Amino acid sequence: MVPEGLIASALPDATPQQAIYSLSMLLLVICTVIFVVVSALLAYGLVKYRERKEDALDEPPQVYGSSEIELAWTVIPILLVFIFFLATARTLNAVQNAQPSPGAVHATVVGHQWWWEIRYPELGITTANELHMPASDPAARTPLFIKLESADVAHSFWIPELGGKTDLIPGHPNSMWLEAQTPGTYLGNCAEFCGLQHANMLIRVIVHPPGEFEKWVEAQKRTATAAPSAELGRNLFLTTSCVNCHTVRGTRAAGTFGPDLTHLMSRQTLGSGVVPNTPENLRVWTRDPQKMKPACLMPDMQLTDSELDAIVAYLLTLD
Ligand code: CUA
Repeated sequence: MVPEGLIASALPDATPQQAIYSLSMLLLVICTVIFVVVSALLAYGLVKYRERKEDALDEPPQVYGSSEIELAWTVIPILLVFIFFLATARTLNAVQNAQPSPGAVHATVVGHQWWWEIRYPELGITTANELHMPASDPAARTPLFIKLESADVAHSFWIPELGGKTDLIPGHPNSMWLEAQTPGTYLGNCAEFCGLQHANMLIRVIVHPPGEFEKWVEAQKRTATAAPSAELGRNLFLTTSCVNCHTVRGTRAAGTFGPDLTHLMSRQTLGSGVVPNTPENLRVWTRDPQKMKPACLMPDMQLTDSELDAIVAYLLTLD
């Protein structure tokens, strides 16, 4: 990764995955041609110079020391490697050093053991484990530029369908960008071993059709609504140590060690992809997260059944 600003290039015409795909195809075509030519020559040699009864004692022509042949098999591979090098360097530069275009959306992704904090500084939104972005229209592109940080150990951000991996290193911010033209959900996972629950550090990228991203942003910007029916659970939540780690905007809960819960129920999974976010799973999770995700940093809060009911009822109002 080149430090920011050292080599800046305009946004390339292709998305990162398209650029990587084109490079792979170029290399595949060149390698296929080499394979076919070498196989054909080999087959030709095998047939033409196979042992025959009539000339069994003849030696084939000896070409040791032929300058023409030595030059050919030295120069052609050097040229090919040079072409591979240039094509790869060009793609790397396009993918890694692109500068945000005017329509770009910006996000900061922070890796934690074992979940993803996702902030949109310009939009004032903080969420977790789900990266939302608008589908990009080739005529008015909306790529997502991401700053990658780590709160603890090294992690790696990887959405296979949307490009390569970029590490999240403590004390060394990295950056990358995503662009998807097809709306949908793209799954990814932490790609750097980061502890016991590394495999349960899943991330999903949700690419919204035109107009939908703005609706999602509006919904996420709202502060939590205080549903009167969940008053008991709300008070309990705000008076236990939940508030030390979690934020619910619009309340005094402002902890930052754990995921922001302001719109918890808008998310698809719990525990960074361990289970679907259903009321039943939320209850099991809240009773003792260590059962679903052993060694995760949220402890068993030792809630009684009635406390658990009240707090889960409150959490379910955080949509
Ligand atoms: Cu985070 Cu592996």
